[in-house]
Amino acid sequence: MTLTSFGPANRIQRSPETHPLTWRLRDDGEPVWLDEYQAKNGYAAARKAFADLSQDDIVQTVKDAGLKGRGGAGFPTGVKWGLMPKDESMNIRYLLCNADEMEPNTWKDRMLMEQLPHLLIEGMLISARALKTYRGYIFLRGEYTTAAKHLNRAVEEAKAAGLLGKNILGSGFDFELFVHTGAGRYICGEETALINSLEGRRANPRSKPPFPAAVGVWGKPTCVNNVETLCNVPAIIGDGVDWYKSLAREGSEDHGTKLMGFSGKVKNPGLWELPFGVTARELFEDYAGGMRDGFKLKCWQPGGAGTGFLLPEHLDAQMYAGGIAKVGTRMGTGLAMAVDDSINMVSLLRNMEEFFARESCGFCTPCRDGLPWSVKLLRALEKGEGQAGDIETLLGLVGFLGPGKTFCAHAPGAVEPLGSAIKYFRPEFEAGIAATSAAVVPPLARPIVVGA
Ligand SMILES: Cc1cc2nc3c(=O)[nH]c(=O)nc-3n(C[C@H](O)[C@H](O)[C@H](O)COP(=O)(O)O)c2cc1C
Ligand code: SF4
Repeated sequence: MTLTSFGPANRIQRSPETHPLTWRLRDDGEPVWLDEYQAKNGYAAARKAFADLSQDDIVQTVKDAGLKGRGGAGFPTGVKWGLMPKDESMNIRYLLCNADEMEPNTWKDRMLMEQLPHLLIEGMLISARALKTYRGYIFLRGEYTTAAKHLNRAVEEAKAAGLLGKNILGSGFDFELFVHTGAGRYICGEETALINSLEGRRANPRSKPPFPAAVGVWGKPTCVNNVETLCNVPAIIGDGVDWYKSLAREGSEDHGTKLMGFSGKVKNPGLWELPFGVTARELFEDYAGGMRDGFKLKCWQPGGAGTGFLLPEHLDAQMYAGGIAKVGTRMGTGLAMAVDDSINMVSLLRNMEEFFARESCGFCTPCRDGLPWSVKLLRALEKGEGQAGDIETLLGLVGFLGPGKTFCAHAPGAVEPLGSAIKYFRPEFEAGIAATSAAVVPPLARPIVVGA
């Protein structure tokens, strides 16, 4: 699979007008270093932000553009920025870039960091200026060794050019930026677990409130944003709100473009920058090329392992948060996965829930105990050794681990694919129930009924 594939026969013309995130990419896939980045108008938005805009102007512009977080939850970025304290005396505050990216099937931030490291640095620099943060950290997934190498080199280049460090662009503003590699845990992507991990603590999510804007890293005001979110900031500041809002397709309530992708047994798996509101069918057929010969699309997930399964008939949904919500799930990271007709859903879900159970931080009981329980039931069903009532118990777990029932969003994300798989493919789960089991263990004799 290519990290940057731009459609069959490379037929997409990328330009600054239509592809604010990716137009500077090189065709050979090599990183765009500082000289080339600046030759391609790089850091022009930062210069504008420092010379012409007040800190409040930058926040307001991002708010007006309607930029929403690209880390999965879709929280409005300008609103989050507005939560940082106004009190100037609180001068120790941090900007964290969430580059943990461990969501299965998701590799969009990796591409940005490996090939356009200065776009992220410029986005962080403008954001730091707006948020008055004097120090930033890129919390990077440990396995992303190439991204770490490229980001570290780009940070050094920016420092040498006076774009990071003291008195940036003669403004009197100081901003230091560090690349911090994590040890490779999915839960480190949850923003408060990330903060704990950065502090050297165990990566458990923190109780909210207080939110990081009030009490974050080392007890100081902190803003956490995703890589792709921050990479949108230079274009918004450089080219303006009206242009940015004009990028999305009609009908989309989200603005701008999004890195979207398709993996699985499609002809052309890849990653593309597309306007919000493009249909999943276009993404699947025109960009990913449809299924490989000999395979049929059985179902698909729109944005990572923590999103629900959809059927081929849902491909006409528009790819934006509200468009995917209309068909019953979440857009997530926007990197879709095709499941072909050779895949048994029980085995697929067993595999996924093993991942989610392993990555649970163990802090709250429903998730710590519920996810391994789902794995146990799915393993039995996979072997044809399930018992009557197992599917009801699984559905009980889906309810018991759903939104609002656990300490963080890990558990709800883990059970969303399970609930939708049972909804659409229940006969495959029923087929795993041993013929005699109903007589051996009647449903009411099962130990606990959850989520009732
Ligand atoms: C289990 C879990 C894993 C997460 N992993 C990531 C991740 O790898 N990258 C990311 O940006 N956000 C991740 N998030 C979402 C973050 O908590 C947070 O919402 C996000 O970083 C905020 O940035 P944004 O507003 O720019 O999207 C995760 C959330 C959960 C519950
Ligand atoms: S939901 Fe899971 S990952 Fe989140 S705090 Fe609870 S145990 Fe930890």
